[in-house]
Amino acid sequence: MKKKMSWYFLVMICLGVGIFIISPYVTLDPSKSRIQLNPSFSLHYPLLVTHIFLAFIALITGFVQLIERVRIQYPHMHRSLGRIYFVSVFLSGMIALVITIYADSFVKAMAFLTLGLLWLFTGWKGYRLILKKRYEEHRIWMIRNYAVTLAAITARLIVPVCILAYVSFHGFTLAGGREQMISTILEVNIWIGLLLNLLFAEWLILKKQTNSSPS
Ligand code: HEM
Repeated sequence: MKKKMSWYFLVMICLGVGIFIISPYVTLDPSKSRIQLNPSFSLHYPLLVTHIFLAFIALITGFVQLIERVRIQYPHMHRSLGRIYFVSVFLSGMIALVITIYADSFVKAMAFLTLGLLWLFTGWKGYRLILKKRYEEHRIWMIRNYAVTLAAITARLIVPVCILAYVSFHGFTLAGGREQMISTILEVNIWIGLLLNLLFAEWLILKKQTNSSPS
């Protein structure tokens, strides 16, 4: 019970971060965008906002899907939310691949490309497996898929830790200035977030398998 509570607490923090990061986009005002918009691509902002809102729907519905009680007591709700989750992930993921082209650095673009492809791939696996009624494998791939969804959040959550690491690494100075520090961190945080979440997901999967195998 205690373990379950701390798991939910962790996810609640992620949802809080999710609400915080989408907040500049709810006004639909391009001047509030945190990323540099490409003036030669008029769809940049509409696509970015669509990506963000669909990703947020995936974040919320995915969280509800994790709750065992909902899965057992309300299977219809689990199925409906599952459909909404899949559609959100696929549309948001496809859009993410397009806006990745306009990212302001190659390292960042490669991180988003990897994230996007993993999001689509793990979602596709989970979807195919549930159609074949292979429930256990479906569960495993959906854990991986939600870990990728949450990687976008973990990446933002670890920024303060990265700042600390950056400053210590440079002998407690802001080497190259504040701008340089932020842009360097924004090039690596997605990779770190993705790696941490995937490791955590594999640990959860293995733990469940070890606990349920006869000794
Ligand atoms: C997991 C797969 C995801 C991929 C591949 C992805 C990809 C991207 C890309 C390529 C950008 C543009 C970045 C740039 O040009 O610098 C972006 C921006 C953004 N994404 Fe995602 N994203 C994902 C998930 C999410 C999730 C789950 C959320 C949470 C709601 C989210 C929220 C945002 C926000 C708020 C921005 C605007 C940048 C900012 O203000 O920090 N994304 N995403």
